Amino acid sequence: MEIMKINSANGTLTVPGDKSVSHRAVMFGAIADGVTHISGFLNGADCLSTIDCFRQLGIRIDLNGDTVTVYGKGINGLEKPDSLLYTGNSGTTTRLLCGLLCAQDFECDISGDESIQKRPMNRVAQPLRLMGADITGDYCPLHISGKAIHGIEYNMPVASAQVKTAIILAALQANGKTVIHEPEKSRDHTELMLRAMGAKIDVSGLDITVNKTESLAPQNITVPGDISSAAFFMVLGAMLKDSHITIKNVGVNPTRTGIIDVLKDMGADIRLENKRTVTGEQVADIIVCSSHLHGVTVGKGIIPRLIDELPVIAVAAVFAEGTTVIKDAQELKVKETNRIFAVVNEFKKCGADIEETDDGMVIHGQKPIHGADFKTYGDHRMAMSLAILSQLANGKSTLDDDACVSVSYPTFFKDLKELGTT
Ligand code: S3P
Repeated sequence: MEIMKINSANGTLTVPGDKSVSHRAVMFGAIADGVTHISGFLNGADCLSTIDCFRQLGIRIDLNGDTVTVYGKGINGLEKPDSLLYTGNSGTTTRLLCGLLCAQDFECDISGDESIQKRPMNRVAQPLRLMGADITGDYCPLHISGKAIHGIEYNMPVASAQVKTAIILAALQANGKTVIHEPEKSRDHTELMLRAMGAKIDVSGLDITVNKTESLAPQNITVPGDISSAAFFMVLGAMLKDSHITIKNVGVNPTRTGIIDVLKDMGADIRLENKRTVTGEQVADIIVCSSHLHGVTVGKGIIPRLIDELPVIAVAAVFAEGTTVIKDAQELKVKETNRIFAVVNEFKKCGADIEETDDGMVIHGQKPIHGADFKTYGDHRMAMSLAILSQLANGKSTLDDDACVSVSYPTFFKDLKELGTT
């Protein structure tokens, strides 16, 4: 795909539903007692992998655009699948399934695409094994033999909502109490949704206590727009002159809004309007206007609140005045691709002054940036970040793979085209 520089971006858009919330709505709906109605569902490849897996586990799921009906069968109602559960590119599907299935009454196998087979699964298998789970493999394919499991006290070595959720899903089925200590607060959609469904979960700061739960009540869930998708337009609107973009109905759960804090710190003109709470999640419209940005240091406790947005924050840093340091972000190495290597390698091609470090990158902004032939590594967030970089760079750029955006934002290029003016 060819992408040209644009001069400004204006308009109003609604981004597709939040990926994390969409996965959870289907999974938790499947183990609730009764029917869950979901609207605003992200009809993207990752969430469709979740639907496929739960259909294989015997759950009837009707999908119609962004509306989903899940006919839940209760915590013990899943059935042994006939064949391997294929999770595609989705780390969330893979890891959450481990937590849910390790205590079921059957055996199963889980695997995904090439990228998933390289991503560490020991981070979920290890705590689940401490609970008594029988999981073979530290990488996909994994074999799980359902077992009776027990509660544990667990200090998480890294802040990861996927690991936390896997342990919580196991703990709902375990004998005794489970206590999880997070090193930093990761996204808390699981805790919010499961508590609303009646799960025995208490949260106190970084500690989560979970007790065995016999039954979950189905809910009607309205999924907010994904702030991780909105982030691309926040950066575009802030960097281009004469621009004004409104992104409606975006989830602004405080565990996800690190991108807004960092862009504001860099000097961006961003504000939230129409704040409200929808099915337990905070939602707002985000308005972003042309701004003059300067470099900042991004690290420590804010990292889990913006982990998926770091590639597009790096785009902002390329055009900001001064130096931006991204640190404490080793987790980027185990995403859909190694996003430290991928960002540094690709951004260098267009003239950016960027260096890789052990735990992030250093970017000296405002060098002359020209178009280049970029590689996406099949990673949806790399593709979208490189598309934004291409629209800001002088001349023409190309992306080797634009189809991978379907993982989280199938209509990304259409929305991008509608906003931009050359
Ligand atoms: C997610 C958690 C994060 C995030 C991913 C979605 C989730 O991963 O990067 O895109 O839905 O729980 P980690 O748990 O590995 O930090």
